[in-house]
Amino acid sequence: MRAYDVILKKRNGLPNSHEELKFLIEGYVKGEVPDYQVSAWLMAVYFNHLTPEERFDMTRIMLESGDQISLSEVNGIKVDKHSTGGVGDKVTLVVGPIVAAAGLTMAKLSGRGLGHTGGTIDKLESIPGFRTALKKEEFFKIANEVGLVVAGQTATVAPADKKLYALRDVTATVDEISLIASSIMSKKLAIHSDVIVLDVKVGTGAFMKSIEEATELARAMIDIGKRYGRKIGAVVSDMNQPLGKMVGNALEVKEAVETLKGNGPEDLDRLCRLISARLIELARGVSSEEAEKMVKDVLESGEALEKFRSFVIAQGGDGSVVDSPESVLPAAKGTMEVLSSKDGYISYIDAEQVGISSMILGAGRAKKEDAIDYAVGIEVFKKLGDRVLKGDPIARLYFNDEEKAEKAKELFLEAYKISDAPIEPPSLVHEIF
Ligand code: URA
Repeated sequence: MRAYDVILKKRNGLPNSHEELKFLIEGYVKGEVPDYQVSAWLMAVYFNHLTPEERFDMTRIMLESGDQISLSEVNGIKVDKHSTGGVGDKVTLVVGPIVAAAGLTMAKLSGRGLGHTGGTIDKLESIPGFRTALKKEEFFKIANEVGLVVAGQTATVAPADKKLYALRDVTATVDEISLIASSIMSKKLAIHSDVIVLDVKVGTGAFMKSIEEATELARAMIDIGKRYGRKIGAVVSDMNQPLGKMVGNALEVKEAVETLKGNGPEDLDRLCRLISARLIELARGVSSEEAEKMVKDVLESGEALEKFRSFVIAQGGDGSVVDSPESVLPAAKGTMEVLSSKDGYISYIDAEQVGISSMILGAGRAKKEDAIDYAVGIEVFKKLGDRVLKGDPIARLYFNDEEKAEKAKELFLEAYKISDAPIEPPSLVHEIF
């Protein structure tokens, strides 16, 4: 077989067979097929796409390039969720305890943040003592004892995806739906959970900018998951503004705790309930109403909150974060308010830019090696459709470095547009699968 012929077929709009894809991708990982040929193939995929069979084959090849984690030693129904990434997305911190309190097991691998979206692992590590580098035995033990465990994803999961992603990144071929779908699913399916719910974000702070694209991505990933025999659902949720009010690691943990106590912001609370209910529905085969009732019960009884405490303690963290997050979590030295420059209505938010502002404060990484400042971030007071008067605070920045705060403030202000006429805020949920 020659890489040339594999490229030619894709260039001419014909599907590649499993053998051809295996030859190309495995050859690339081993260094037998050069960058320039895989780049040409990626560009052909960018224009001609992959068929559902090719997407599945591609996922399988990348998945099988690395370690897989069987959960056969873990009891109960194993569930997982995945978000395509957004600003202020602390949904896992709320959904995990809810579904575990409802009797399911979430044994999850999560990533660190890069760019404008924060990672769950970074958020959890803002809790003093919390460990995310767990040995397999410990991971299984916590899963069985608590029903919830979250560990950092290692480089041994889907290494082919890692290598291919780096090439996509420099050949302008990242944003092709079949490539994104197989990339995400190759990592998601490497851990053998029974049920998966995907949260596909759409909007100014997300990878996907249109509802059509996000829906197509959700459908492509669901198709791959089903071919793998998993029970899988998805929501397409809005990311035209930060989710909740807090952006930044420790601030987001605090907000997640408040949400588990029933005092969270309305959008975050609603999305977490929806994703939890969808997981329960698929896992238990109950109706959506029954699943919603189970979610409501574990939140109101305090069981979900106590589950969060047990989870934090099991992973070495300070469980009193549940009682008094302020005294346990790292705090920033200073705060600075961002004020509205005019009267009007918040008509547009560049959520990505809000994420970048928080990154500038130190809450995220521009490069993999960058250190994170857990204490800093942004509290957003005004969201889409809200009325503001000149001088009203739109947000509060939590900072440790005043110079960075001034720069973040400038960027943050540019992210907001204020119009004279009122606007209808976008729906939080666009599609449920
Ligand atoms: N996230 C991934 O893991 N892969 C992609 O291709 C895009 C986003």
